[in-house]
Amino acid sequence: MTAPNGLGNSIENLLSLSGEALTQQFLSSPPLNNSTDEFLDYSEHERSEMSVSNNLWYKEAIFYEVYVRAFCDIEGTGNGGISGITNKLDYLHTLGVDCIWLLPIYPSPLKDDGYDISDYCDIHPDYGTLNDFKILVKAVHERNMKIIADFIPNHCSDKHKWFQSARLSRDSPYRDYFVWSDSPQKYKDARIIFLDVEQSNWTWDETAGQYYWHRFYKEQPDLNFDNPKVQQEMLNIVDFWLNLGIDGFRVDAVPYLFEREGTSCENLPETHDFLKKMRRFIDNKYPGRIILAEACQMPDEVRKYFGDGDEFHMGFHFPVMPRIYMSIMRSKSECLRNIMEGTPEIPNTCQWVTFLRNHDELTLEMVTKDERKEMWDFYAPVPRMRINLGIRRRLAPLMGGDQRKIELAYSLLFTLPGSPIIYYGDEICMGDNIWLEDRHGVRTPMQWSDQPPNGGFSTSNKLYAPVIDDPEYGYQKVNVVESEKDPSSLYQVIRQMIQRRRKHLSFGHGSFQWVNSDNPHIASYMRICGIDRMFIVQNLSDQVQKVTLHTHAASITPFSTTSMPSSSNTTTGSLHRRTPSNSGDGIASGIGSRVGGGDGGNIESVTSSFGNTLTVDGAGGNLLGSKVTPIPTRKVHTHYQQSNTNINKQHHQPLTTKEEYEALKGTKPPLVSFLNVETASYDEQSHYLIDILTDYQVMVDQKGYVTMELEPYQFYWFSMGEITTLMGEGSKSRDLRRKSIQINDHTSLHQRNIHFADPIDE
Ligand code: NOJ
Repeated sequence: MTAPNGLGNSIENLLSLSGEALTQQFLSSPPLNNSTDEFLDYSEHERSEMSVSNNLWYKEAIFYEVYVRAFCDIEGTGNGGISGITNKLDYLHTLGVDCIWLLPIYPSPLKDDGYDISDYCDIHPDYGTLNDFKILVKAVHERNMKIIADFIPNHCSDKHKWFQSARLSRDSPYRDYFVWSDSPQKYKDARIIFLDVEQSNWTWDETAGQYYWHRFYKEQPDLNFDNPKVQQEMLNIVDFWLNLGIDGFRVDAVPYLFEREGTSCENLPETHDFLKKMRRFIDNKYPGRIILAEACQMPDEVRKYFGDGDEFHMGFHFPVMPRIYMSIMRSKSECLRNIMEGTPEIPNTCQWVTFLRNHDELTLEMVTKDERKEMWDFYAPVPRMRINLGIRRRLAPLMGGDQRKIELAYSLLFTLPGSPIIYYGDEICMGDNIWLEDRHGVRTPMQWSDQPPNGGFSTSNKLYAPVIDDPEYGYQKVNVVESEKDPSSLYQVIRQMIQRRRKHLSFGHGSFQWVNSDNPHIASYMRICGIDRMFIVQNLSDQVQKVTLHTHAASITPFSTTSMPSSSNTTTGSLHRRTPSNSGDGIASGIGSRVGGGDGGNIESVTSSFGNTLTVDGAGGNLLGSKVTPIPTRKVHTHYQQSNTNINKQHHQPLTTKEEYEALKGTKPPLVSFLNVETASYDEQSHYLIDILTDYQVMVDQKGYVTMELEPYQFYWFSMGEITTLMGEGSKSRDLRRKSIQINDHTSLHQRNIHFADPIDE
């Protein structure tokens, strides 16, 4: 399959251009003719081939986190294993997963479930062999998927031969692999992470006759990165696994590699230096492989781990995660908007990674003390639900089993900037078992079927952990077979969302711009990449909400949430915000609040009041203005569902003529443009919005305003371009099915009779 003409093929080029250059590229490219070769076909931007064959595949990918022990046991040992994952690859492929992230697979005494490694270059015997692993990697690649593994450089297990040797004698060649001290008073400013269990980051070792340093459990001594041999060992390990063909690593606990007196021992310059070295090593020997940083820090700090595009490719966006929950808890979008405002641009080859849940507690480290209390009270009312600074519960129970809320959370996950990760089992609404120790309550066996005794996970009568079998989340009700059968299941909804998302490059590559509304319960924003423009509107509350939004707020500028590495930034400038002289209305502050304005078209001032003249200085880009430079439109295909049938319909948008092109060639975008919203009707494409999940259409008025009503927790993913020839109006919402639901907060989704629109065929 070839990449879509004009967009897919050139996406890396597009991303490397400034707004002005991008406009120029459009203007100087030859006029489009009616030949089908020229048509931009979104339906071509399907899964796999296109997505994962380009170098920036990870920016568009859907990740899936697998806890190997829990996923599938085909050998009847009571533990899931590598071959179990191979066995279930088609399930993941069908769901729409692009990349699998494996939690630690290495030999380990399992004090920290594998994050305490006793041999970096082998497979835990419970999970299989290196040969099983090679078979898995091959099978993944055969499906055009990718696979990354957890890599844990910061610490190993105290059972690792390095530590065993080191503690025996000060003369051991491995002594200096670890951080020793005669006193526990060093590095006092470093916080303790496993607060519930550890009192100090130092532990006395009788045999060694010294204290050793550890940021996590005492059974996980930190490695000494000041020792060049340790650094070399780490590169050797990276080499070993990349040589086996994996596509990269999720790198654990990266902020803590070095220690320095008088600092928090986090995010030190030396740490960045080593990580850059590791990246150079990977790029040189294994170009195209990726590394993902686990740095639970605020965005400004995580930003540093992207470097100038020469450190990590990806970094978890930890702070946005609790704010997704917070926004739903409060039914207010403000906290989301604030965190997005505080999210800096990242280099264009980098990407955030977003998630709702993972194998750890839902960490509340990145919210204030008061917010933490509020969230604990709401989401973890039983003390046992709390652990360290977080909550040991899964997504479905956190959302009270209300599928509308769960879908809303996924809507936020799939539409905010970043590549989303789905945590195994969350796609079928698996529950948790808070009574298991540590974080094991969210690591229970995957529920494949209603077959006793283990829900299809294993035939063994001795499992590593009990399968969930409570009346609400038990395998008898919550399982893959049921989810696949039921067209209204969360699994089917997620699958549908992924398929629709995949067709729009703006989710993986586009800019992000918050769109203010007159309703605080609404979270609305635009994602824009070239001519692909998505307008996301979400009702965070349990009440029907009416909202009026301005669709021109984002203009048509190809802003990116990513920016060129700083070396190139000189040509593109940066975002300057001045206090709006007449702000206070939705539009002005909506524009002024842009997050991720970048490569061009930076807004330097915004002065506006609702319904009056906007003055926008669009230096270097385009263009809010009555004399706007039109972006050429092309023929598109829309693939949509109607009356239970999938119709691949082709339709035309007005093409800019050859003459217009000639006239426009060389035209510079005006530096200052004026939009008089009284007369504005400059953007033909913006007159209709189409929800890509349902094909429901909404009309935008002459001034660019659209008013709509959203049912509780409802959301729209509007495309601002696919218009005009749809037959009928689509269905008003995914909530068609919900009309038949008796919404009752005390009723679990499993007890409801939910009718969902038919899943789309592929
Ligand atoms: C982060 C991992 O997600 C967590 O499970 C582990 O306990 C710590 N790092 C220490 O490796």
